[in-house]
Amino acid sequence: MSAPIRKVAVAGATGNTGPTVIEILHTSGFEITALTRSADKTKSLLGPEIKVVEVDYLSHDSLVPALRGHDAVVVCGVGILPEQINLIDAAIAAGVSRFIPADFASDLTIPLHRELNINKDKVITEEYLQKHESSISRTSIRTGPLLDFCLSRGVLIHMKERSITLFDSGDKRFSTTTMPTASVAIVAVLKTGDKSKNRAFKVQDIVTTQNRLLELGKEVTLGAEWTVKPASTAEMAKKASEALKADPNNRMAAMMQKAVGVFGQEYTSDFGEADNAELGIRMMDEVQLKELLKKFA
Ligand SMILES: NC(=O)c1ccc[n+]([C@@H]2O[C@H](COP(=O)([O-])OP(=O)(O)OC[C@H]3O[C@@H](n4cnc5c(N)ncnc54)[C@H](OP(=O)(O)O)[C@@H]3O)[C@@H](O)[C@H]2O)c1
Repeated sequence: MSAPIRKVAVAGATGNTGPTVIEILHTSGFEITALTRSADKTKSLLGPEIKVVEVDYLSHDSLVPALRGHDAVVVCGVGILPEQINLIDAAIAAGVSRFIPADFASDLTIPLHRELNINKDKVITEEYLQKHESSISRTSIRTGPLLDFCLSRGVLIHMKERSITLFDSGDKRFSTTTMPTASVAIVAVLKTGDKSKNRAFKVQDIVTTQNRLLELGKEVTLGAEWTVKPASTAEMAKKASEALKADPNNRMAAMMQKAVGVFGQEYTSDFGEADNAELGIRMMDEVQLKELLKKFA
């Protein structure tokens, strides 16, 4: 049996998900080190209780001492290769026992999801970790679209503008998870020990549809006028694949592919039972969903 996980290094602490992950790991009792490319920026963002270490993700010699003494590495961002592979190599050299790669994605056990360009780095990273599982264990957290992150950007539904880009019929069911719940899943995984080794967990706050979000959005905004913009995932898939062929880093094409990966007919986006029970995570009900929508209105 492996020793309990106490000291956790979090890479990518300053991005979209890092601050929430760090806050929840910290309040759950883990000793955190935030890895960053700029200590000044990160210290002012995270406050004095979090230890911050500046690293160069392209240098093994910078990463190994920063990771020594840690039990786990959690990656938020830094998904761009080769940084994450360097982190894995350094974690192995430093004797870290568990690696949680940048994920928060759809169900990547499904081949169609794995084939999407937007998931390429995640698949490569997972395969690399699999290859090294005798040296370091891994756990991935799958969440579907991050609900609060998406709502803050008007994706899924734009509460402030009272508008929605409705993909196809709007009836596609999808699992979605807030950043706090995704972070609680990481805490649960790190506390579970060997039972969470070398596998992925699917976690969700709720399974819903865009039509249901629109109905709830209308209830929240009490009779306001809403604009519905229809979009076809088949057309978006075609446009995205042409654009990505010309430029694999085309950001607009990546955004389109993300929508196709959730709402495209052939993509499974409803996790079904998910693994909430195993992680002790309760789902959200529609009253709570409405409260969340209200916050972004
Ligand atoms: N399902 C969803 O809806 C959803 C939404 C958002 C994110 N995600 C996923 O969540 C995970 C975390 O993403 P995120 O949005 O939190 O990441 P992010 O904001 O793009 O990046 C996080 C941090 O990584 C570091 N970083 C960025 N680019 C780097 C580079 N080239 N080299 C080294 N470090 C770099 C930066 O920290 P420093 O400057 O401090 O080094 C940055 O603040 C990813 O797997 C992402 O795909 C999913």
